[in-house]
Amino acid sequence: MNLIDGKAISAKCKGEIADEIKSLTAEGRRAPCLAVILVGNDPASQVYVRNKKRACEAVGITSLEYLLDENESEEKLLELIDFLNKDNNVDGILVQMPVPKQIDPDKVIEAISADKDVDAFHAYNVGKLFTGAPRFQPCTPAGVMRLLKEYNVEIKGKHCVVVGRSNIVGKPMGALLLAEDGTVTTCHSRTKNLAEITKQADILVAACGRAKMITADMVKDGAVLVDVGINRVGDKLLGDIDFDACAEKASLITPVPGGVGPMTIAILMQNTLTSYKMRFNLQ
Ligand code: GUN
Repeated sequence: MNLIDGKAISAKCKGEIADEIKSLTAEGRRAPCLAVILVGNDPASQVYVRNKKRACEAVGITSLEYLLDENESEEKLLELIDFLNKDNNVDGILVQMPVPKQIDPDKVIEAISADKDVDAFHAYNVGKLFTGAPRFQPCTPAGVMRLLKEYNVEIKGKHCVVVGRSNIVGKPMGALLLAEDGTVTTCHSRTKNLAEITKQADILVAACGRAKMITADMVKDGAVLVDVGINRVGDKLLGDIDFDACAEKASLITPVPGGVGPMTIAILMQNTLTSYKMRFNLQ
């Protein structure tokens, strides 16, 4: 078993992004700018937003933070998004999900300009992803792809099984693996004989949001195991894969924490830089 070091690869990606931003701003341009909006006080979301701000500082991206009250109206949030859409000094807009129940997340996602949608959640960017011409990368799935690339995992012709079908991870993950010529099976909570399918996986991506759902008997010897899960159980963070038992069978495996998690933010930084370059017609 070999461990996939997401922290190290994330640091490498962020280093490359920082170098590029340094050379772009040395020519006299402003720095790229990411606006992050958090509605409410969800502790996990607060941690994610803080980490995004820190990553921006580390790579030379200006970050704007908007912390809105838990009871803020949908209308006010949409007004803020409209304001940021029109601001030429803002390259990326991100509303941390989930939003409180008075706000419709689909309306929020569609309100963000597709040109500033660094999460790649907008229907236009999702469409671009599925037609094979993505502008922004879906952050977590693209982070997984980068890890596989860094560890020279061949995808072409391999059976890639994704457990989970969310819009944020499962569905775009399948699209990216397919674009690299993987044979993709997407499983979910209603899948019958799940273990029969996961046992066929050369590459298994677990994104089902249930701690230790993938057990050793569901894994083929030599498989590459990627764990997108972050489940808080007591004072522990557990992945969707039963790490200790499955690690013995895997050729490569991501830990939780320190696997996929750090990559999501690295790709967000990359998307913000891509948006900036689009805005300035640099490429
Ligand atoms: N909540 C959990 N993951 C994400 C993400 O990638 N982007 C946003 N905006 N919210 C999230």
